[in-house]
Amino acid sequence: MSKGTYYVTTPIYYPSSKLHIGHTYTTVAADAIARFKRVTGYDVKFLTGTDEHGQKIETVAKGFGKAPKEYLDTIVEEIKDLWKTMEISYDIFIRTTDDYHERRVQAIFQKLYDKGDIYKGEYEGLYCTPCESFWTESQLVDGKCPDCGRDVQQTKEEAYFFKLSKYQDRLLELFQTEGFLEPKSRVNEMVNNFIKPGLEDLCITRTSFDWGIPVPFDTKHVIYVWLDALSNYVTALGYPEEVDGDYAKYWPADVHLVGKEIVRFHTIIWPAMLMALDQPVPKKVFGHGWILLEGGKMSKSKGNIVDPVVLIERYGVDALKYFLLREYSFGQDGIFTNEVLLNRLNSDLANDLGNLVSRTMAMVEKYNEGILVEPKGQTEFDVSLKEMAVSVAGKIEEKLDNLDFSNGLEEIWKFVRRTNKYIDETAPWVLAKEEGDKDTLDAVLYNLVESIRIISVLIQPFMIHTSRKIWDSLGLEEGEKTNWASAIEFGLMSVGAKVSKGETLFPRIDIQKELEALAALGPKEEAVKEEKAEKASEAKPEITIDDFAKMDFRVAEILKAEPHPDADKLMVLQLKVGDEERQVVSGISKHYAPEELVGEKVILVANLKPVKLRGLKSNGMILAATSGKDLKLVTVDMPSGSTVS
Ligand code: ME8
Repeated sequence: MSKGTYYVTTPIYYPSSKLHIGHTYTTVAADAIARFKRVTGYDVKFLTGTDEHGQKIETVAKGFGKAPKEYLDTIVEEIKDLWKTMEISYDIFIRTTDDYHERRVQAIFQKLYDKGDIYKGEYEGLYCTPCESFWTESQLVDGKCPDCGRDVQQTKEEAYFFKLSKYQDRLLELFQTEGFLEPKSRVNEMVNNFIKPGLEDLCITRTSFDWGIPVPFDTKHVIYVWLDALSNYVTALGYPEEVDGDYAKYWPADVHLVGKEIVRFHTIIWPAMLMALDQPVPKKVFGHGWILLEGGKMSKSKGNIVDPVVLIERYGVDALKYFLLREYSFGQDGIFTNEVLLNRLNSDLANDLGNLVSRTMAMVEKYNEGILVEPKGQTEFDVSLKEMAVSVAGKIEEKLDNLDFSNGLEEIWKFVRRTNKYIDETAPWVLAKEEGDKDTLDAVLYNLVESIRIISVLIQPFMIHTSRKIWDSLGLEEGEKTNWASAIEFGLMSVGAKVSKGETLFPRIDIQKELEALAALGPKEEAVKEEKAEKASEAKPEITIDDFAKMDFRVAEILKAEPHPDADKLMVLQLKVGDEERQVVSGISKHYAPEELVGEKVILVANLKPVKLRGLKSNGMILAATSGKDLKLVTVDMPSGSTVS
C-alpha cells in the first residue's frame, strides 16, 4: 500500500561545461531522499535535467565553434553517463530543448498573457550573462552583479514584462507559511532584500539573441531563460496540456532542492508564476549551502576543480555519495579538501563499516566454515545491541524527513560503531578457544551477521551499491529480508545460511601518498579549453563608433579624496571638472592612498548616469588617474593597475 506520492526535483543544470562536485551534491541528496521515500512506501517522482537555452549557452557553444544543439547533445550525454555511473535513480530527465517542454512553455506564456499578467514595454537596465539575471543599479554591489561579482552589461530592448509586483502581498504571506522555505534563516534574507523593498515587474523576453523558446505570438522575442527553466517542474508532468495524469498526481512538488544562490528564483518568481496560473505552489523549497574550496571558488585553469569522475574512479561511487551527505550539514556551506575527504573515507568507511564486515565474515568462515549456526547461547551485551539495532530506522526517518542527511547517516554509524564494540566486548577469538563457549560464540557470530544485515538495509537510500555487495556476502536476495521494514526486526537471517567474505568494501587509503597523487593531477587540457569558452560568455557585445561617440570624456582635477565609510574598496572623490565640482565614488582604493591623490588629474566619463554606490552619490566614472608623471589605469573594466607613462 502506497503511503502517498512524493515529488522531488533538483535544479536543471546548465550544460555550459561538465558538472562538478557541487552539482553532484544536490543530485546525490535528491537521489537519497527519493530512494528513502520509495523504500518507506511512497510513490515517488524524481526529476532532474538540463537548462539549455540562453545567452550563456549560446556563447559557450560558439567558443567551441559549434551550434548550440550540437554542443549540448555531447555534454548532456556526459551528464547522463555521470548519473548512470552514480546510480542516480531519477524518473524523468528533462531537457529544455525537448519538444514537449518548448510547446508547454509557450502555452504557459500564452496563458499568462491572456490573463493580463504579461504586457509589452521596453527594458532598459543591467544584465549579468553568466547568471542570466536582470539587475537594477541599486541592487549592484560595487557596481557588479551581486550574485557572482562579475561585470553587468547595459541592455536596452523592447520586451515583455511579467506583473511580478502584483503578487507582492501573496508572496509575503507565502513566506510566513511554516516550512515553505528552509532552512528558516533564508526567509528573512528573501523578505528583507527582495519583497519588502518592493518587487518590480520582471522582464521576461529578450531580442538580442535567439537561442531560446520564441514568444508564441511575437517570434522575434525569446522567452527569458529562467521562465523557461522554472516551468520544467510542471511541464515534465504534462502541464498545461495534460493535467489529469502525472500533473494531478504529483503536483505540487514536495520539495525543490536548490543551491542557496537560486532560492530567489524558486521562492519569488516561480510561486508568482504559479499564482498567476492559478496553480498550487510547491510545498517546500530547500536552499542548501555551497561546497567551497579553501582557496575560494573552483577554477578549471588552476586545476582545483573537484571533478566527481576522478573521485569516483579512485574511491567508488558510494564513497563519494557517503562523503557528500555525511560531511556537510545540508543547509550550510562547507569546505572541501582532499584531506577532509580521505580522512572521512578512512575513518567511517574503511575502519568502521569495512572492518566490521570483513572481521565478522572472516570469523564466521574461520570458526563455522561460513555457516550461520543457531544462536543458543547469549552474552550480557546482546540486549543493548538488539535494542539499538531495531531503533535506528525510526531515527533515520525523523532526520530525513527534515532533509538532515548528515545526522541520518550518523545514526547508522553510531550503530556501526556499537557493533564493532560488541566484537571487542565479546572477544569471539577467546570464546573460540573453549569448547564450552561454543554456543556463546555461535550466538555472537549470529548477532554480528544480523546487525550487518540491518546496517545494509539502512544504508540503501545512500549507498545502494554497498548494500548489494553485503547482500551478496550474506547470500540474500533482494526482498523481505532486505526491505526497509526488515530493519526493525532482529533475527531474520536464516540458521544454516552460508555467508562469505566477498571483496573488500572500502580499502584503506594511504593518505599521504594519495594526497600527492591527487596533487599531481594537473588541469586537463580539455578543462582549460572549457574555461576559455566560459570566459567568452562573459565578453561584452561589440559596440559601434556611434556607441563610443556617446561617451563624454573630460580631464578633471582631484580636490579631495577620502575613504568610503561603508566600503573598503571605494573612495569618495571631489573633482573639479571645468568650472563645476562633482562627487565620484570610485574603486580606486586598491591603487592609491587618499593623500596621494589630491592635486592629481583624472580622465572621467562625465555623462555616465549618476548612481548611488553604497549610499553615496557618484556622478561619473574614472578611467585613469595620473600619479606624478605616470598615468595609471584604474577602473575595474581596464587592465587594472597598468601604467602608461
Ligand atoms: O543555476 N555547492 O544551473 P547551474 C553546492 N540552470 N551546490 C552547487 C555548487 C556548489 N559549489 N555549484 C553548483 C542553474 N551547485 C540553473 C538552474 S532550475 C530551474 C535552473 C548546484 O548549472 C546547486 O544545486 O548553475 C546550484 O543551485 C546548482 O548546482 C546550479 O547549477
